[in-house]
Amino acid sequence: MPIATRVVHVDPVQPEPAHIHLAAEIVRGGGLVAFPTETVYGLGANALQAQAVRGIFAAKDRPATDPLIVHLHEAAQLESVAASAPELARRLATAFWPGPLTLVVPRGAAIPLEVTAGREMVAVRVPSHPVAQALLAASAVPIAAPSANRFARPSPTTAQHVLDDLNGRIDLVLDAGPVPIGLESTIVDTTQSPPVVLRPGGLTLEALRRVAPEITLQERYLSEAMQAAAPGMFSKHYAPRAALHLFDGPRAAVLRSMRAAAESSLKDGRRVGILALEADLTAFEALPVERARLGLESDPEAAGQRLFAALRELDQRGVDVILARLPERHGLWLTIRDRLYRAAEGKVTAVSE
Ligand code: TXA
Ligand code: MG
Repeated sequence: MPIATRVVHVDPVQPEPAHIHLAAEIVRGGGLVAFPTETVYGLGANALQAQAVRGIFAAKDRPATDPLIVHLHEAAQLESVAASAPELARRLATAFWPGPLTLVVPRGAAIPLEVTAGREMVAVRVPSHPVAQALLAASAVPIAAPSANRFARPSPTTAQHVLDDLNGRIDLVLDAGPVPIGLESTIVDTTQSPPVVLRPGGLTLEALRRVAPEITLQERYLSEAMQAAAPGMFSKHYAPRAALHLFDGPRAAVLRSMRAAAESSLKDGRRVGILALEADLTAFEALPVERARLGLESDPEAAGQRLFAALRELDQRGVDVILARLPERHGLWLTIRDRLYRAAEGKVTAVSE
């Protein structure tokens, strides 16, 4: 049975107290509220109520085996959801909270196993977005929130994306416009030694290592070598409806190969989308393709902010296939590379000179 989903526009810098109050009442009452964070829109429920948390999984069609991130108003609340806070977790929290960093720590007894999908570890973060901050303060409970998309779809960076996936399935969307980062938080497991980045995200590895040089990166989705070693580990995620086809290698050779692939698909009568940096689009001049722009190579922040919206837009323009070049492995480009890899389920054409 669909439910009526309300949409309330809220100021992204100084959220109206009445709107926040409404959202907080819904959260406290066990309902579902989509709200902006600095990374992506989240689908929030009271993290202390197992029944409310089960509602998140139902609304998203998310498998109950995929654990949720618990959002807190401030770092001082960590003890209320964690059994203990490793020294590293406290150091990273001091350096980066509020912000796009999630810490995996031992689960505290207050957090139901529904949140952690049965694990004894819980993922926690303090978001910096003023709307998320206000909602957490007003609800006065920790809020469990995955990205507010249907399972396996690109994460939502606008309220419209949330509605496209979840209208009729949730109680409220707080619409504060596009989010600033557009890529999910970086997840660090602080219970392992050395600590490991489980998912690169909006906080770069370089920034993390300035505070904790010992942090390692779990190489799951970032190289062809991994794909060859473990096919099938690429569970579909962040995916557009069109087939996403990635190319990796030296830029000029990759662009030649992409142009050939575009021409061949067009000849077969398929509609082709190109997701590319502004400078790369010249390689597709005069071809009847749909173009989605990621901006300048010097501005990964802008590309990150655009990425998921661009994938959704290409879908809306009805393309059958999307071609994209994998970016480099530094800064936010590493995160973008990870998301593209997973969206393509690891399908990459390696191009050499
Ligand atoms: O930026 C973000 O992190 C956004 C906003 C809404 O905060 N949230 C988000 O949540 O991306 P979600 O559920 O889409 O992704 C959370 C990831 C999942 O891949 C999950 O497997 C992992 O975090 N995760 C959650 N709890 C975990 C745990 N206890 N141990 C290991 N991984 C965990
Ligand atoms: Mg997600």
